[in-house]
Order: sequence, then C-alpha cells, then structure tokens
Amino acid sequence: MAVPDSREEVKNRVREAADIVEVIGECVQLKRAGSRYTGLCPFHAEKTPSFSVNPQGQFFHCFGCGESGDVFSFVMKYHHMGFPEALETLARRYHIDLPRRRLSDRDKIRIREREALYQVNEAAALLYQQCLSSGDVARAAREYLQQRQVPDGIVEKYRLGYAPAPESGGWDFITRRLRAKKFSVADIERAGLAVRRERGGHYDRFRDRVLFPIQDMTGRVVAFGGRILGDGKPKYMNSPESAVFDKSRILFGLFQHRQAIRQGRRALVVEGNFDLILLAVHGIDNVVAPLGTSLTRAHVRLLRGYCDEVVLLFDGDAAGLKAAMRSVPLFLAEQVEGKVAILPEGHDPDSLVREQGPEAVHELVAAARPLAEFVFDSLVRRHGLTLSGKSRIIGELQELVSQSSDPAQKSLMAAHFGEKLGVAPERFLSRSAARKPAGAGTGAEHPPSGETIPRRERQLLDFLILYPEHFRELQEAGLEEVVSGEITCQVIDALKRGTAEGTCSCEQLLSLLQGDEERRYVAELLMREPESDLDDDEARNVQAQSMCEELITWIRLFRQRKSSRDLLRRISEAQQSGDTALLMELLRRRQEEERKRTGFSDNLLNKI
Ligand code: UTP
Ligand code: MN
Repeated sequence: MAVPDSREEVKNRVREAADIVEVIGECVQLKRAGSRYTGLCPFHAEKTPSFSVNPQGQFFHCFGCGESGDVFSFVMKYHHMGFPEALETLARRYHIDLPRRRLSDRDKIRIREREALYQVNEAAALLYQQCLSSGDVARAAREYLQQRQVPDGIVEKYRLGYAPAPESGGWDFITRRLRAKKFSVADIERAGLAVRRERGGHYDRFRDRVLFPIQDMTGRVVAFGGRILGDGKPKYMNSPESAVFDKSRILFGLFQHRQAIRQGRRALVVEGNFDLILLAVHGIDNVVAPLGTSLTRAHVRLLRGYCDEVVLLFDGDAAGLKAAMRSVPLFLAEQVEGKVAILPEGHDPDSLVREQGPEAVHELVAAARPLAEFVFDSLVRRHGLTLSGKSRIIGELQELVSQSSDPAQKSLMAAHFGEKLGVAPERFLSRSAARKPAGAGTGAEHPPSGETIPRRERQLLDFLILYPEHFRELQEAGLEEVVSGEITCQVIDALKRGTAEGTCSCEQLLSLLQGDEERRYVAELLMREPESDLDDDEARNVQAQSMCEELITWIRLFRQRKSSRDLLRRISEAQQSGDTALLMELLRRRQEEERKRTGFSDNLLNKI
C-alpha cells in the first residue's frame, strides 16, 4: 500500500531533484571556486563576490548580508514567491508530481485554470512567433519591424510575434489553431485571446498587430501587448487581466533584463514597448516598461528585489511632472532611490537612441535628478518664490510628505524642503496641523496615525484591514506573537470580536473600533486603497491568498528568529550560572531547532 506523501517528504524529494547550482546559476553569475561556487549576491549591492553556493550541502550563504538557505528559500526570496509557489515551480521544473489531495476542489479548479492559461498563452506565443518569422501574411509586419530598425536577433530574444489581419488570416487565426491543439474555447477566451461574439461564436482579440509577449519572472507568457501596424486605433491593445496577469504587478522586460538590472543595480523605466526594444537594440538592456499604466507600488517593490536605483525616463511636459509627483510616495514607501531623467523636447527613448545613439541615453541617465529634488524644482518653476507661490508649494509638498510611511524619511524630507524654502520643517510634517491656525491645537505633536509602525507590521495590519476574511489563517500562524503596535493590537481585538460569529467585513471592523486613532487609521486606509481594479473576485482572491501566504511565511520566520534569540539568551544565562545540565539541554534544543529551520546542520560557516 502506498504511504501518502507528507509535505515534508515531497519537499525533500523536490530538494533532492533540484540542482541548487543550476537554479541559482540562472539568476546569478556563478564561478567555480574549489568545491563551491561564488558570485555577486543578488540580495544586497556589492562589487566583490561574497555570495557562495555549496552544491554538496545544497545551500547558499552570503557572507556580506548573511542571507542563507536552501533552494526553496532562494526561489522564494529571489522571485518574491510564497513557499507553495516555489515548491510548485521547482517541482514542475524537475518533473516531480505534487500530491494534490489536500487541496480543496476550489483550489484544484483554480490551479487547473491557471495552468491552462499559461499553456494557452505559451502556445499562442509560439504560433504568433512562427507567423511573424515565416508566414506569407506577415510580410508587412516584417517590413514594419525593419523600418523601426528592429533586427532579427531582438525579434527572437523578445519572442515578438504577429497576429495577421482578418483579410489574410481570417477572424479566427489564433482561435482556430489553438483549438486544433485541443485547447478549449473557454480557456482561449479566459486568456483574452478570443472574444465572444454576441450572437455566438468567437473572434480573435489581436488582429494585424505586432505582439509583445509579457513574461512573468519565471519566463512564463502571461499576456500580450499588441501594436497596430501603422496608424489604426487603438494603437496598443493588451490582454485583459486574468488569473495569471495583473498588470499592476508585472513589468514588460524585467524577465529578460533581470540580470543586467541586477548587475548595474539600476533599472530604467520607459513608457513604451518600442522604447524598451529600441534601447535593447542599442545595447541598453536594464530597462522595463509598465503596460500602459502608471507605475504602481507593487512595481517599485518588484524592482527593489533587483536594484537600488530606478530612473524614470519622462517627457519634459506637465504630464511628466505629474507622473513624477505621483511616484514619489511609492519610492519612499519602498525605500528605493527614484530618479527622473527628462527627455529632450520632442523625443521618446526610441527616437533619441536612434538619432543620437546610446551615449545620449547614458548621459541623460547620468544627469538624472533625485525624484524629490526634481519635484521641488518643478514646483518652484511653476509657482515661483513669491509669498503666495511659496505657500502653494508648501501645500503640495505637505501632501507629498504625508504620503511617506517612514518617519525618518519624513523628517529628512521636511528638513530638506524646510531649508530650501526657509520655513520650519514642522510645516511639512502634519497637514492637518499646518492648516489649523497657530495655537489652535497640538496637532504637530501627534504624528499622523500609524507613523511608527514597522514596515512588516504595517503590511500585516493593512492586509488584515483590507482582507479581514484571512484573519483566522493569520491568527493560526501566530499573528499575535509578532505584532506589538497599539493600532495593530486594537484591530486584532476588534477582528476577534467581529469574527466570533462569522466573517467580518471592512465596514464592520470600523464600527467595532473604539479609539480615534485606530478608526482614523482604518478609515484612511480604506479610503486610500483604490477599489481593486481586478474586476473579478476570483483574481482578487488569488492575489489576496498569495499575499496571505507571504505574510504567513514571514510570521513563521519571525517567530523562529524570536524563539532562537530567546534560546540564545537562556544559553548564555545557563553558561554564566554554571548550570551544565540545563546548558546541555538548551544546546541540544538549539541544534534541534536549527536543524528543523534550515534543513542542514548549524555549523554552516565551517562547511562553506
Ligand atoms: P505611446 O503611445 O507613447 O507609445 O504609449 P509608443 O511606445 O511611443 O508607441 P510607438 O512608438 O508609436 O509604437 C506608451 C505605452 O502605453 C501603452 C503601451 O504599452 C505603449 O507602449 N498604450 C498606449 C496602451 O496600452 N494603449 C494605447 O492605446 C496606447
Ligand atoms: Mn514611440
């Protein structure tokens, strides 16, 4: 009788099958050094390699930043995945079947749907590629790319494709071919490749367009961006969002460019797909492009995993300033250095690099200004430094400062702007305080709510407020052991009461809170958080679920660290008091814990 696989057994099988050098080697350039491999650490900035991979022990360790772990921790940290996804990715890659029994029917359907979406998108990408490279119907597309100076090598590298015009390919060019490959119409439609006709039947979404496949960080095609040949409307068309495509979280080019971005610790953000492609043609390949949306906080967070500095290439018009202002809080919140480079009048990166070569772009990037500085100077240019000008500038900057969640950053900005404008830094620190007439209140002494909450706890708190339906899960993972802030504790308390007889909605939560500060925090968050642009609940749930898993992983880690710190303290106490029996017992426990935690013995440093 087959013994059912425990999660631990499956994990071990995948760990054994996965070659850590191969997995890490795809993301980090590794050099052999004796029995191990070294390279530049992907988790912190460095110029000399202190990142080391040990193939015998199947673990990695960075002597620079202390990051270490096994192949799962690497994939999780590097690709920003939760454990289940890392396990699945590695299992798929090394052909290990994961037991599915413990999944609910709903989960099974969801996973099957996602898998189908990946497959249908991949099949479509191949068909579109083939069509572009050899199809008779694609002659005009090939000419178009030639005219835009995109060589074949680039077409291949970015897997560009072509969806023919209905006159030559019919209205169901891709739908027909995918169906012939046994994909169901439902999956093709769900992927956004076919659109349902009102009177029945389907037609292709993409027609007569050059297609840019959008790949996730493991290289799977999740969507397409398509540009019309010539002047038709709309100029660009993207796949609709789906269970595998959330455009606020994905950047075109990051998959292809992750290595270059990591090496230089810098990413350039451009607006258009062709901007990215043409820069790549000219050897500039640390570039990403959002898909027709403005940059989101999730984008910045994604980039943070790869670089220390992000340079936004903007047009020098009012829209550029607006976009820059909008992105300041994102960069502050994620603690990434954001810079702005303004393109010469009438140019986009595509035309600039074609007409003036890569040097012009390098110069532009070298002269990029920090975001906050750029915003400040633009405001001065707009409002002038008269008394009323200044007061308008202060108003706009207050708004900006108030959006940062890091108190240190806030004070820095306030001090900086204060000095530049010759006013007290406090003017920037609290919007409500500044609006009150002098002496009317003590607002300035009260930091805006939630100001001192550590980043992770804030993430947890915000998640709880926005997705109270996940409260139980987090509670079971040990939520209460890892938080300490007053607001968080109050919110948890309210959630406990709220969920006592079922689930608790965001609005109920608000009504259960008594303190002003908590209520203000929750209300502000609910108002600030835009209605999810994921229009179907399913996609929103998938997203929340993966956030929840990430938070649970963190809670577990935090608790492990805490308990090992406690143990160390007790060990040193036992040592000092000379209680040998206790000491031995504690040391044994520590070894046990360490073994459980890392899956390898704790004398890591000796081995590596
Ligand atoms: P632009 O219109 O600035 O495109 O849109 P571009 O890259 O300069 O276009 P080319 O050079 O004429 O080909 C910038 C980006 O905004 C998105 C696309 O991702 C595009 O690359 N966009 C634009 C859309 O999603 N839909 C549109 O109708 C237009
Ligand atoms: Mn353009």
